[in-house]
Amino acid sequence: MKIGVPKEIKTREYRVGLTPAGVRELCAAGHTVYVETDAAAGIGFTDEDYRRAGAEIAANARQVFADAELVVKVKEPQPAECAMLREGQALFAYLHLAPDPKQAKLLLKSRATAIAYETVTDAGGGLPLLAPMSEVAGRLAAQAGARALEKASGGRGVLMGGVPGVAPADVVVIGGGVVGTNAARMAVGMGASVTILDRSLKRLAELEELFAGRVTTLYSTEETLEQAVTHADLVIGAVLLPGKAAPKLVSREMISRMRSGAAVVDVAIDQGGCFATSKPTTHDEPMYIVDDVVHYCVANMPGAVARTATLALTNATLPYVLKLANNGLTTAMNDRHFLAGLTVHRGKITQQDVADALGYEYFPADTELGI
Ligand SMILES: NC(=O)c1ccc[n+]([C@@H]2O[C@H](COP(=O)([O-])OP(=O)(O)OC[C@H]3O[C@@H](n4cnc5c(N)ncnc54)[C@H](O)[C@@H]3O)[C@@H](O)[C@H]2O)c1
Repeated sequence: MKIGVPKEIKTREYRVGLTPAGVRELCAAGHTVYVETDAAAGIGFTDEDYRRAGAEIAANARQVFADAELVVKVKEPQPAECAMLREGQALFAYLHLAPDPKQAKLLLKSRATAIAYETVTDAGGGLPLLAPMSEVAGRLAAQAGARALEKASGGRGVLMGGVPGVAPADVVVIGGGVVGTNAARMAVGMGASVTILDRSLKRLAELEELFAGRVTTLYSTEETLEQAVTHADLVIGAVLLPGKAAPKLVSREMISRMRSGAAVVDVAIDQGGCFATSKPTTHDEPMYIVDDVVHYCVANMPGAVARTATLALTNATLPYVLKLANNGLTTAMNDRHFLAGLTVHRGKITQQDVADALGYEYFPADTELGI
């Protein structure tokens, strides 16, 4: 199969759809890979690295899209990219289509097949192509929180790990899923005193086991949450209600009762955030202060560590790319977990939630593919 990897064109997006290692695997399996020149220059992979792995370097995106049967990207296609997609061509990328009618219209018009990373499922009920970015964001949340607690950021001037004779920072993590667990792991590693709140008793039991007594677990109620948040140095928001906006668990009033110079990192900001005072920020200006509480609310946290994020993402996506390339679309989609990613096919929406959110008719993916 002919596979194309264009350079990402969204502002400050340095990640890339395939690394040289991925290209090497695909070429070894007999496929042809076109990579746009400088596609991964921002994260230290050169054209020469890709060439050595077996890729052909394309001078521009138009050439990549023209030649490829499968386009592998990171972010949702921008209008200029949608205009280059065509019927019979497949796109594999994050789409986040439900809140994006403009992209939906352009993708439908292209008649291409679009498979979304974020809705591919696994046998355990997880989202294997979303999890790596949650791992990255969670780990980064502890780092961002540590920085927010420094005086220069407006913080209390508290060191995460304390020192002998001085207590460590009191870190509260709301939501013990992928983000929360990774945030807690880093905070524990820095020596902080960590409490995790969750609504799932099963998850709390797993966390208790996992951290072997190094964290305190609390069942999340308004009472326990208020108690924990108002005593914390740092609160990390990591809740998720699948398919819904994040619940505003921490009210403005609770924020105003936090310690002066305390910090919040709202990782759930991409779903609207779980603090009443959260608003999305960017890597250029990641923090702001409300009621003397430092807020870090970057909606695309993994972008800060684009090299690690690319390696983590492509480790997860490569087996799926290989499956598509080796077997072709229809056979690859016989796997119902992979099929869960199929969102747009020949001008039709094949995801119930996306169709409902955008007011389009829904067409079942298996019927459309004839499987
Ligand atoms: N900002 C970013 O760059 C970025 C990157 C990756 C993920 N995220 C976001 O981080 C959030 C968490 O993602 P995840 O992968 O960890 O999800 P997850 O499903 O693995 O974990 C969410 C956890 O929240 C818990 N929860 C639900 N309601 C709760 C409540 N009322 N109190 C306490 N816990 C509650 C759930 O039981 C679950 O354990 C999502 O909103 C995701 O979109 C943001």
